[in-house]
Amino acid sequence: MTSDQNIWASLPVPAFIIDADDRITDVNSAGEGFLNASRNAVIGHPVWDQIAVDAPLEEAFLRARQQGTPLFVNDVDVGSGNRAPLQCALQIAPLLGHPGSMIMTMSPRELAGRMTRGNTVKSAAQSAIGMAEMLAHEIKNPLAGITGAAQLLSMNISQQDTELTDLIVAESRRIVKLLEQVEQFGNLTQPDFKPVNIHDVLDRARRSALLGFGAHMTIIEDYDPSLPLAYGDPDQLLQVVLNLLKNASEASPKGGTIRLRTYFEHSFRLRRSDGSGHSLPLQIEIIDDGPGLPDKIRSDIFDPFVSGRENGTGLGLALVSKIISDHDGWILAESVPGHTVFRLSVRRAPRDGT
Ligand SMILES: Nc1ncnc2c1ncn2[C@@H]1O[C@H](COP(=O)(O)OP(=O)(O)OP(=O)(O)O)[C@@H](O)[C@H]1O
Ligand SMILES: [Mg+2]
Repeated sequence: MTSDQNIWASLPVPAFIIDADDRITDVNSAGEGFLNASRNAVIGHPVWDQIAVDAPLEEAFLRARQQGTPLFVNDVDVGSGNRAPLQCALQIAPLLGHPGSMIMTMSPRELAGRMTRGNTVKSAAQSAIGMAEMLAHEIKNPLAGITGAAQLLSMNISQQDTELTDLIVAESRRIVKLLEQVEQFGNLTQPDFKPVNIHDVLDRARRSALLGFGAHMTIIEDYDPSLPLAYGDPDQLLQVVLNLLKNASEASPKGGTIRLRTYFEHSFRLRRSDGSGHSLPLQIEIIDDGPGLPDKIRSDIFDPFVSGRENGTGLGLALVSKIISDHDGWILAESVPGHTVFRLSVRRAPRDGT
């Protein structure tokens, strides 16, 4: 008969035993790996000091403990000490024979898993984009003809009928705009990496926003002046920030405040399941006080063609996420009404400046 100890040690997912006072009384080796700490270092410590769960779990946890029922929580961000939060599913159940004690296992949706899935999607997307680009190019010419013809017609018709020609012109322009966005997607090349001053990028984006789509907004700077240089493609990073500023401005048509915040977080790492990884210490936040992400699309905002706006094409954030992933960076969106944060985490330039 297999011993409990062997089963415990062999469990391929992080597992923890938590006592009635919410302290860790045991952790298996996958759990040690998850926490990046030894068993001895965590036993006896309050579990929620070691594991930060980005969800209001307390009540459900208490209920599970009192009623002796299991609790399943999907898609929560779970952080531990010095690593970037991972999206996980949590399984929590009362430990038989130990009143008040609970066993908790978690299955991280590894970054690497998401990335590789992203990659297959990427190549499928690549051919779809190639196709769309070709179409975009082909459609733009006849569309220009249609617009021109409608404008000519409008010169010789009654006032009432010009409403119709105006409609043709306006709708054609909208299609052209969409096509241009599709083309922009296809035009993306690999980033041309160089040391970049993030504050220059933010300033350029801020100035151009205030002159155009963001004229009705107040944009405040909250910079860490000691922030080192980032490693990336300045033009592509500018495109990212512009898209985020545009979204924030569009979310608050009557005006609002956008805060551009930068800070250094040396412990932020992107870790892959093969153990490799790199540090993403530069944090850039674009924070707005608008209504927040619409609930219906909140989990899909980075997918192409997902939009919560009437005239949105839904390509902005898809482009943002493609650029950040090409930069080996990370993007996170957090949103409640009145407080929406898009956080970019990027690499630091190599110190010798090469
Ligand atoms: N700061 C924000 N506040 C509220 N909602 C947002 C914010 N940023 C994005 N969204 C929501 O996410 C959706 C997707 O954004 P995305 O930039 O991908 O597309 P879009 O803005 O609709 O169209 P496009 O950028 O292609 O013109 C938006 O339509 C909007 O509903
Ligand atoms: Mg947008």
